[in-house]
Amino acid sequence: MDKNLTYLSNGIKIPLLGFGTYKSGSDEDTSKSVKNALKLGYRMIDTASFYGNEVGIGKGIKESKVDREEIFLVTKLWNEDHGYENTIEAFNKSLRNLNVDYIDLYLIHWPNKLNAETWRAFEDLHEMGKVKAIGVCNFKVNHLEELKKSGNIMPMVNQVEMHPFSIKNEILNYCKESNIKVIAWSPISRGRIFSNDLMISLSEKYNKTIAQIALRWHIQRGVIPIPKSSNEDRIKENIDIFDFEISSEDMKYIDLLNEGDDISVSKPPSNTIYND
Ligand SMILES: NC(=O)c1ccc[n+]([C@@H]2O[C@H](COP(=O)([O-])OP(=O)(O)OC[C@H]3O[C@@H](n4cnc5c(N)ncnc54)[C@H](OP(=O)(O)O)[C@@H]3O)[C@@H](O)[C@H]2O)c1
Repeated sequence: MDKNLTYLSNGIKIPLLGFGTYKSGSDEDTSKSVKNALKLGYRMIDTASFYGNEVGIGKGIKESKVDREEIFLVTKLWNEDHGYENTIEAFNKSLRNLNVDYIDLYLIHWPNKLNAETWRAFEDLHEMGKVKAIGVCNFKVNHLEELKKSGNIMPMVNQVEMHPFSIKNEILNYCKESNIKVIAWSPISRGRIFSNDLMISLSEKYNKTIAQIALRWHIQRGVIPIPKSSNEDRIKENIDIFDFEISSEDMKYIDLLNEGDDISVSKPPSNTIYND
């Protein structure tokens, strides 16, 4: 098996690292970042209809000249598009915007009271082969347990906010036991870790940047990080994490930075149903 890939529960391959694109700028800027990321070796691109950048992503993919089959493309269903028919419509709109004929991974962006109905549409899109894998974001254990009761297949992925200040062991362990891959959003906590003394000392010890230490920590926990950058040097820096290993002792020290599950670098959108 390629050392930079792992497998989802349905046998689909997924890269160990992805490229985030929230706030990637104009279509032009987005397409430039995507081309840079693909040129530098990233093979997973994470977007969402909510980001308003699917057109730029699609343009970057086309212009990169990298084969579509080599790219693992992720997009998400927005809060206002829940329900069976709405989901199918929103999915088709994303396909058009991205200018592709299938998606590799389609995710529910936030939990919602219509999860069960929406998930039925996700299962049908998967069955039809329009999407290779389906999953969710920001689901807690109770949301996953509910889906287990109402759905036919369990999500293959749960994408959650995760970084050294919010290590979320409960959800991570639940997902590992249920064969659900965890993808970490805001994996470098949008920069908050950069002023942390432990992270600074580990950066010196391993001769790697703080971002690289954090991203490597995710990989060694079996989590897939998706750092966002619009800067070519930082895009390059963030993928240069496969040539070193953090000791198990230092992994535990990083875990101790945890401040809890509800620590967040951002607020969920106001129309998000999260805790019920
Ligand atoms: N499912 C969800 O609900 C959800 C929520 C939020 C995000 N996401 C996804 O997760 C991705 C990543 O999360 P995020 O964008 O919130 O946060 P992040 O990746 O933790 O941080 C991105 C920020 O850090 C900077 N940065 C990146 N690499 C750096 C480096 N090596 N050194 C210094 N600064 C660096 C970037 O600036 P520059 O661009 O200037 O480099 C940007 O301001 C998003 O882009 C999106 O695709 C999903």
